[in-house]
Amino acid sequence: MASLPAHIGAAPGNLPPNVCQLPRTGQLAALLTGLRNKETSRGAFVFYADRVNRLLVEEGLNHLPVLEKGLEYQGVDFEGKICGVSIMRAGESMEAGLRECCRAVRIGKILIQRDEETAQAKLFYAKLPDDIANRYCLLLDPMLATGGSAIKAIEVLLDHGVPQERIIFLNLVSCPEGLKAMYDAYPQVKIVTAWVDEALNEHKYIVPGLGDFGDRYFTSS
Ligand code: PRP
Ligand code: URA
Repeated sequence: MASLPAHIGAAPGNLPPNVCQLPRTGQLAALLTGLRNKETSRGAFVFYADRVNRLLVEEGLNHLPVLEKGLEYQGVDFEGKICGVSIMRAGESMEAGLRECCRAVRIGKILIQRDEETAQAKLFYAKLPDDIANRYCLLLDPMLATGGSAIKAIEVLLDHGVPQERIIFLNLVSCPEGLKAMYDAYPQVKIVTAWVDEALNEHKYIVPGLGDFGDRYFTSS
């Protein structure tokens, strides 16, 4: 595989054991570069984000258990049923990538918004598949900053009977603070993240990050 320029840096190695990072390839680094660039138009931002989201879904599916399946040859099939749950609004951007891989997948929604001043996450609404307790859940949110939003979403899933071990959180950009908060709260939840950034700034935004993902994907010019 082609080597990356030194300034990109190696993926951090001292992360909690529930974290899986996508390989730091040149392709992924270039997609992240496009996402981080303030000059990137909304159309291009959507294109880059959708590309990374597809890679995340493909990797997330690798973490689901499979069982033997005998046809004319001995193969495998997924052990259980799945569903997607997006944390609105930014998480909804990841639904298309999931549907591309799992055509008829059921999708639930949890509306959680982070207070712009305090960065505290507030739950407004949840609508989930009736049989969610019997499914593996792919929880979708591209940004993991303090971890407050994802932790609140996991509380909702647990309240609906989904065990931690059946939740896989798919995320585009994370940071050590958020990953630690998630591990401290729910160590059995698997996290698949495309890129672990350096840290949070004083406003609890990810550095270098890519700004407000929801605004850039859905409403920017
Ligand atoms: C963003 C993002 C996450 C959250 C991450 O959502 O999509 O849900 O912030 O921050 P945290 O880890 O500190 O909780 P936001 O509430 O800004 O809403 P949006 O999806 O509508 O942009
Ligand atoms: N939400 C975002 O969209 N970006 C951040 O850096 C933090 C929260």
